[in-house]
Amino acid sequence: MQIIRELEALRQAVAEYRGSGKRIALVPTMGALHAGHMALIEEGLRRADAVIASIFVNPRQFGPNEDLAAYPRRERTDAQMLEKHGCAILWAPAVETMYPEGFATTVSVSGVSEVLEGAARPGHFDGVSTVVLKLLNQVQPDIALFGEKDWQQLAVIRRMATDLDLPVEIHGVPIERDDQGLALSSRNAYLSEEELVAARTLPRALGEAAAAIGRGEPAEAALAAATARLAEAGFTDIDYVTLRDAATLQPIEALGEAPARLLAAARMGPARLIDNLPVEPTTSV
Ligand code: PAF
Repeated sequence: MQIIRELEALRQAVAEYRGSGKRIALVPTMGALHAGHMALIEEGLRRADAVIASIFVNPRQFGPNEDLAAYPRRERTDAQMLEKHGCAILWAPAVETMYPEGFATTVSVSGVSEVLEGAARPGHFDGVSTVVLKLLNQVQPDIALFGEKDWQQLAVIRRMATDLDLPVEIHGVPIERDDQGLALSSRNAYLSEEELVAARTLPRALGEAAAAIGRGEPAEAALAAATARLAEAGFTDIDYVTLRDAATLQPIEALGEAPARLLAAARMGPARLIDNLPVEPTTSV
């Protein structure tokens, strides 16, 4: 696996792959890689001939109260994992390469980026959209893969790619979960054994709410029950447990024609956890 830090070298390496007719996949990450990221690499390899992963801890998506300095950085271990999983290139630019002196452009996707995480973390999605557009322009992949765990991020990126006619397929990869359903996340590492056990209430509560709504029970009651269950399990700062249109992230009160998604964000001890599930009508026989 090549580790590349300069844009010119990246462009040359990508041109070589393209020259030999290879389809290229990009997996953008901020490092601290885990099995969830490896699922993205593996899916990339199923859908393209060569996978390029990027590791860039993007300062523009961290708020003033979010600790950018404390974000885990372990490039050597990450690179070993990527190589083992068949990644062709690790694109790891420095902050000065990504945002040189005088950088003055921000990409802002209105609507879908303003609610939920966007409301809780002002400016976050502007930072994400800006860096993802840059990564897509730098690598010019045929396909870019993102985890469905950050469902809203995926919706924002899809909106941006459609609106700006980006010649890339944006592909969402289902959430990797542990054997008890907890979505894999770098933030799980902050949890004590006891908190980890309690955190597993999150996917269970969402699963029950999704099933109830799917059976036709009122969404409001199902969401209230899930919220109460989270509070009982020790979750605090329950920012939202909500039923949304899966693409626009606007609130919906019941299932309709458009795909629906149940999303939640709450704090367990030191970690703010997010999770989401599709909600589909179930037909009884
Ligand atoms: O999901 C992430 O790790 C980041 O938000 C991304 C997409 C790599 C942009 O910095």
